[in-house]
Amino acid sequence: MLTLAIETSCDETSCAIIRDGREVLSNIISSQIDIHRKFGGVVPEIASRKHIEAINNIIQEALDEAKCTFNDIDLIGVTQGPGLVGALLVGISTAKALAYGLNKPIMGVNHIEGHICANYIEHKDLKPPFTCLIVSGGHTYLVYAKDYADYELIGRTRDDAAGEAFDKIARALGLPYPGGPFIDNLSKKGNNEAIDFPRVFLENNSYDFSFSGLKTAVLNYLNQTKQKGEEIVIEDVAASFQQAVLDVLVDKSFRLAKEKSSNKIVIAGGVAANEGLRKMMEERGSRENIEIFYPSRILCTDNAAMIGSAAYFNYIKGKKSDLHLSVEPNLGL
Ligand code: KG4
Ligand code: ZN
Repeated sequence: MLTLAIETSCDETSCAIIRDGREVLSNIISSQIDIHRKFGGVVPEIASRKHIEAINNIIQEALDEAKCTFNDIDLIGVTQGPGLVGALLVGISTAKALAYGLNKPIMGVNHIEGHICANYIEHKDLKPPFTCLIVSGGHTYLVYAKDYADYELIGRTRDDAAGEAFDKIARALGLPYPGGPFIDNLSKKGNNEAIDFPRVFLENNSYDFSFSGLKTAVLNYLNQTKQKGEEIVIEDVAASFQQAVLDVLVDKSFRLAKEKSSNKIVIAGGVAANEGLRKMMEERGSRENIEIFYPSRILCTDNAAMIGSAAYFNYIKGKKSDLHLSVEPNLGL
């Protein structure tokens, strides 16, 4: 079964052709990041306009690379939310036009579920159930995947998302947007015990996250150090901040895996590209006999292949969408 999938929830215009939810025939991603970088973040109005300019060419490129035509496509998958309303509308309108014109079924996809499904593409034998940590620029969720397209939501952030915290601290350190990869790289050169930033575990047994207190602690440290005229070693700040985030993410993921007697932890979303997170998960996983899964870097950040995978698994599980499908900018998992 061939799915043509479209992703336009933020600043990547992407179209992919994917076979049976796991095999990528093409995954074209056009990033607008250079345009938004000079504003220090994504400008929604610009994002929508750039999606409109790019989408038709990206779809054609995806078909060409997969060596197929519209007639070969069995299902149209598209990100329904969460995301920027204008950006999502470009993808949904395009997908509906294709589904109507080709008389093929359409499947609206939750972007967060898409991030989880990137792992089905990367790891051909991965099957639910598993424990899953989703950490991206907009979301931080801890879920238990009971089956394909069936999740139990266990925890979520109460304020900033993990990636958002990385981006805000990077900005305070004068690093470019998005700052996650820069913090990741600087951390390798810094001492992660240099500064004792808080680990926020919330109340006992909570699986929720909170990163705003940590963010404030780092900003206060930077201001106070500057005021005292002391040197700020940005490698040490990056490493100490990153370690404070990772300690909480890793600890809660393993606690949930234990509670569920689950021997698989899957990480997903942009922050799953973080080398410190991967390493820490793997080290603890090998000590505690829990297998760790994460997608390759290109499948961690936004792309349409993961949306195609999620569309396929929802479709074969009997979920339905139709041409009344509309955008859901605040969709949760
Ligand atoms: O999943 P994604 O592409 O977009 C959303 O759905 O939000 O995630 C983007 C986020 C950004 O906050 C970016 O800084 C972060 O993922 N990110 C990283 C790394 N690579 C991307 N954060 C930490 N370390 C990285 N290596
Ligand atoms: Zn995303």
